[in-house]
Amino acid sequence: MEKIFDSHAHYDDERFDEDRQQVLEALRQDVCAVINCASDLESARCSLDLAEKYDYIYAAVGIHPHEAAQLPADWLGQVEKLAGEEKAVAIGEIGLDYHYDFCPRDIQKQVFAAQVELAKKLNLPIIVHDREAHGDMYEILRKYAPLAGVVHCFSGSAELARETVSMGMHIGLGGAVTFKNARVPLEVAQFVPMERLLLETDAPYMAPVPFRGKRCDSSHIRITAEKIAQVKGVTTDELIARARENAEKLFLGKK
Ligand code: NI
Repeated sequence: MEKIFDSHAHYDDERFDEDRQQVLEALRQDVCAVINCASDLESARCSLDLAEKYDYIYAAVGIHPHEAAQLPADWLGQVEKLAGEEKAVAIGEIGLDYHYDFCPRDIQKQVFAAQVELAKKLNLPIIVHDREAHGDMYEILRKYAPLAGVVHCFSGSAELARETVSMGMHIGLGGAVTFKNARVPLEVAQFVPMERLLLETDAPYMAPVPFRGKRCDSSHIRITAEKIAQVKGVTTDELIARARENAEKLFLGKK
């Protein structure tokens, strides 16, 4: 069986506190790489610690829109410093979340744009979170395109996927393609060119059916891949291999 590259997970999440080591050791059987995505400065540090401990884990460092309010004055300098560490391979996860609106929207936009600029300066890919914010999100992305990176847990239309790809970015698909109402994600899966597709879990969240609502881990990607492989008319192993090559090129190309 082909080994999995999980392009988006959160193993620093408290839902892994009880058995993190067991889970991460067991994953070696199925998984060859994981990008552990940060949400704030502290979790960026945790991601780098995990990456130091486990050879197959890499870190994305950045400020999630939920955490964008009340940042220290030198937050961007701190992100830049963390991004300079050996196993930091991306700026993420960064973006806009107008579903929860935990942070005022103008601050979300400022913090996101500043990190996109930083990523361009450092020549690192971005990992983008876009929830119910397509209008403002794409206004910012267009301004900085072309861009390297991924829109994770892609929730837009096939048309928006087309624009994302034309800007140079990848489309990240996860457990949502297995949900009952997955018509649009499956249209996107069908459209997205093989060389621009990444597989992800967002573990511990977004477990695919039949594990929906339970704690997710990177081995669940096989279920998601099976669904996408069906609509693309390839084997599950072929899909997993292609998505892995894409992620290796995007995130590990310079490491
Ligand atoms: Ni995430």
